[in-house]
Amino acid sequence: MAAQNDAVLKIEGLTKSFQNVHVLMNIDLAIEEGAFLVLVGPSGCGKSTLLNCVAGLEAPTSGRILIGGRDMTDAAPKDRDIAMVFQSYALYPNMSVARNITFGMKVRGATRAEQRSALEKVAHMLKIDHLLNRRPAHLSGGQRQRVAMGRALVRQPKLFLFDEPLSNLDAKLRVEMRAEIKRLHRALGATIVYVTHDQTEAMSLATEVAVMEGGVIAQLGPPQQVYDYPVNTFVAGFIGSPAMNFINGRISKDGGAIRIQVSFDGATRELPADHYPFGGGIEDGAEVILGIRPEYVSGSDPSADRPNVALDLVPTLVETNGFDQHVNLAFGDSEISGRFSPREQIKLGTPVRTRIDLSQISVFDRETRQRL
Ligand SMILES: Nc1ncnc2c1ncn2[C@@H]1O[C@H](COP(=O)(O)OP(=O)(O)O)[C@@H](O)[C@H]1O
Ligand SMILES: [Mg+2]
Repeated sequence: MAAQNDAVLKIEGLTKSFQNVHVLMNIDLAIEEGAFLVLVGPSGCGKSTLLNCVAGLEAPTSGRILIGGRDMTDAAPKDRDIAMVFQSYALYPNMSVARNITFGMKVRGATRAEQRSALEKVAHMLKIDHLLNRRPAHLSGGQRQRVAMGRALVRQPKLFLFDEPLSNLDAKLRVEMRAEIKRLHRALGATIVYVTHDQTEAMSLATEVAVMEGGVIAQLGPPQQVYDYPVNTFVAGFIGSPAMNFINGRISKDGGAIRIQVSFDGATRELPADHYPFGGGIEDGAEVILGIRPEYVSGSDPSADRPNVALDLVPTLVETNGFDQHVNLAFGDSEISGRFSPREQIKLGTPVRTRIDLSQISVFDRETRQRL
């Protein structure tokens, strides 16, 4: 048999429409064993529909889904060697925790001894040994979530699918469970596809992030790469909090030097951009959007070898969280946000010397909004 490749999951040209509503457009995707792929994007962009197609709960309109190298496009969910955890948990209310976890194994004909041993292992891993005789109604949200995970884990499937499993938990528990899921992923070497609308969750869990917008994958890559090199203004604005600053600018080419002209308060400043790898060159006068992450806008001097600019800007909003101050600064008729040391005295309305480190900028075409 010709080895397909190492992909545990491969999606080829997948399209899904409901009547005449096109929800997924030509999705291509491949992930290898041990990957933690997070599908992230705003509500309604098609994340659950894509996951449901992989699970076999929705039939694609066109395209193929391969799991472990085998075409599973038309296979029944139970034949796909997957386990899914839903936001709603979907536990059986009349069964104990133990039975909720082992029920699927029993249906598939596992012996009592096999069920017992799988249950013990999973219960220990998820720290729910003491809850095995309870009914779901007598569990907290976090405990129910663990039981739902336990039910998926006993199956040891080729692929785990998670659809917003943490959305019903409060903020603190969400962060705890997030760390736990990450630990489990590492301990089991599992391959996971995980859906969330929360970009922080996506960044912290993923080995690969797929940022979705309106039924297409806008960008697929390791979290840091997506953060540093967003392919368009949508991805740039969606990933990262506070959001990336966008400033309108115009390219000025003077001899060999490339600069980005930005205007504010009636003046024009030229920012150095020679260090930016404009793919395919760039034309003089081109209208662009300059993207700068807030952590590169601060009160401290960047090291001298980094391209930077100093401006006096007026603070319009200051929020502190103890380890830094998040400051909005008037910039022409809009604002940019920055991060300042908590030791710095910042007064609303009083100009503050602001250093913008330009070494990690993103530049987008103002019309196509694509990265240049
Ligand atoms: N069964 C369905 N029939 C018609 N439209 C649907 C159906 N399921 C989902 N949709 C539509 O598909 C789009 C994507 O939905 P969904 O995949 O649930 O998004 P997400 O999980 O990213 O929030 C939405 O506009 C939704 O209304
Ligand atoms: Mg959804």
